[in-house]
Amino acid sequence: MTLPRPDAPLRLGVNIDHVATLRNARGGADPDPARAALLAQQAGADGITLHLREDRRHIIDADLPAILRAVQIPINLEMAATAEMQSIALAHRPHAICLVPERREERTTEGGLEVAGDAARLTDYIAPLVAAGARVSLFIAPDEAQVEAAARVGAQVIELHTGSYCEHCASGDDAARDAELRRLFAAASLAQDLGLEVHAGHGLNFVNVGPIAAIPEVVELNIGHFLMGEAIFVGLEAAIQEMRRQMNLARM
Ligand code: PXP
Repeated sequence: MTLPRPDAPLRLGVNIDHVATLRNARGGADPDPARAALLAQQAGADGITLHLREDRRHIIDADLPAILRAVQIPINLEMAATAEMQSIALAHRPHAICLVPERREERTTEGGLEVAGDAARLTDYIAPLVAAGARVSLFIAPDEAQVEAAARVGAQVIELHTGSYCEHCASGDDAARDAELRRLFAAASLAQDLGLEVHAGHGLNFVNVGPIAAIPEVVELNIGHFLMGEAIFVGLEAAIQEMRRQMNLARM
């Protein structure tokens, strides 16, 4: 097993879902998520992440092949563990697939995937994706039972949900933030011991990214909503480059 060095450069996956949200607000073709993906690549993103939701509220089916054609960097497809999504993934074969929980009424992905309680189904679900060459990741809460289950069901990667940590940062509840950070550190360490690669994401911004980027086992962050909002003011390239700078600073 190759363990990442604590000072290993941290990859930045840029989630372009909300370019599609803006496009869909009017219908039509603008702004184009594939153009945003290309710009993110030019600005130094290590990967592009997109979430094809069951209700297609942002990315739609045609975006996936368009983005695969537009960039050379790896594509990470986030999706629910449904039969429909599995066949889309197998048809397009993105580099990575991140399985996420999905509820139609939620505004964004709330909470992590229930892996421990759904292990048999997920084992069968993941196997053909891995056999097709995808790196399969599970988006989970920093919870020991979920990390152990992720290793058992055949995932190669976990992505730790940083949403609670980010909410505590925003609310100013330092004790709760620190407790959540300790859970994230412990989950990352356990995951690495079990041979899993560790990613993290959700709700990250310039202010809260540092402590997450400093978790030595974390080798990739996936960041979307904040970067797209910031891009309105400073441009996508500058937003991505500043995020990269903050991540590198924390890593040192
Ligand atoms: N990682 C996963 C698995 C997600 O579902 C999301 C949100 O779609 C993100 C990262 C990015 O979160 P945010 O848009 O809050 O940066």
